[in-house]
Amino acid sequence: MQNITPESTVGDIVRAAPARARIFEALGIDYCCGGKKSLAEAARARNYDPATVIALLAAQTQEPGLGTADPDRMGLAELCDHIESVHHAYLREELPRLDFMTRKVAAVHGDHEPRLLEVRQVFAAFNAEVSAHTQEEEAAIFPVIRRLEAATADKAAVAGGLKAALDQLETEHDSAGAALVRLKDLTDNYTPPEWACNTFRALYHGLAQLEARMHQHVHQENNVLFPKVLAAA
Ligand SMILES: [Fe+2]
Ligand SMILES: [Fe+2]
Repeated sequence: MQNITPESTVGDIVRAAPARARIFEALGIDYCCGGKKSLAEAARARNYDPATVIALLAAQTQEPGLGTADPDRMGLAELCDHIESVHHAYLREELPRLDFMTRKVAAVHGDHEPRLLEVRQVFAAFNAEVSAHTQEEEAAIFPVIRRLEAATADKAAVAGGLKAALDQLETEHDSAGAALVRLKDLTDNYTPPEWACNTFRALYHGLAQLEARMHQHVHQENNVLFPKVLAAA
């Protein structure tokens, strides 16, 4: 994408230059599940002038310290490998830690701050859903995508049922996104109160990171991988 216009979709804008996700994160614009919205629509929904947002995006093309991975240039199998080794591996390591911390902080401080009890409930449901979801991708969906890329003939036969499966994954991404919005709300945008102990602070820091990482992950599936799969089928 050479020029960003008000009609460009926010998903395509990040797809062309992943570093721009930082701008959308900072402005609270959803570029993953909401990736099909135009920039003008997404900016106005957050009370920003689209021209100002375009100027910010145009200035942000380099991602400091995040390597050179550019999912848009990857083939299907390479992209599945990237998502598994970067995003799924992160979740496998981080979700048990956050599970422990949400349980502990709710048990210790839930009387004083009852919203922590709901943080625990929302996280537990998110954890169960997202763990089952990534397992389904790795066991059932990504193997078909790899076979689709390797197939030399009759790609349509390999891809049978894939469109419906991707639609289902997108629905599950929406559900995970809604849980993250709820967590952000319940935690005052991940801001611990003055009296919070270290575990409490570490939990909010971890949840904020989880949100940013999930946005990248869902963006790379909804707006990069899935359109490439449908184009190849
Ligand atoms: Fe995934
Ligand atoms: Fe997914």
